[in-house]
Amino acid sequence: MIEMVNFRYSDDITVVDRRQFEAHMRLYEGYVKSINQIDEALRGDSGRNQANTTYGRFRDLKRGETYALNGVILHELYFQNIGGRAGEPGTLTAQMISRDFGCVSDWYEDFIATAKASRGWAVLGYDQRSDRLRNISLDSHDLGNIAYYAPILVLDMYEHAYFLQYADNKAEYINRFMRNINWKVIEERLSYWQE
Ligand SMILES: [Fe+2]
Repeated sequence: MIEMVNFRYSDDITVVDRRQFEAHMRLYEGYVKSINQIDEALRGDSGRNQANTTYGRFRDLKRGETYALNGVILHELYFQNIGGRAGEPGTLTAQMISRDFGCVSDWYEDFIATAKASRGWAVLGYDQRSDRLRNISLDSHDLGNIAYYAPILVLDMYEHAYFLQYADNKAEYINRFMRNINWKVIEERLSYWQE
């Protein structure tokens, strides 16, 4: 059973207002419920003996399993990596970003472009196969992830993440996100994968 994390709105969160944040949290709660229901269904009458690639209950559950679980994980990473006030990447983060993107400001430009190009998520990820960071673009929770990587910085680009507050001003949402990144959390995530 997956337990929901109770993220709370605080003054440190400047990327979205309380109303937008709370609407988004309700959506996250829905994904937690969904993955628990799917897990339960997979343990019960899942239609496994009828499995095929065209349609059916088992196939629907398998599609839903990765969609809902990634929905939970990516939202948690997103809510954890906002609310920062430091403004600057930590030492290891700056070093790795500079190594893989030339310099921090080039990375900013590339990440912002990745966000603008994404229908679902923009993620700074550590690609373990190439031992380097990449800005990757996901069109949905289960579309675009690298098979073997660690999400380091996660930005929700679904319209539900910003539309209530920003309407179609996506660029302003992205800019305010970039100023509200919790770099301490990012440094911790990267350190974990570099040990
Ligand atoms: Fe979302």
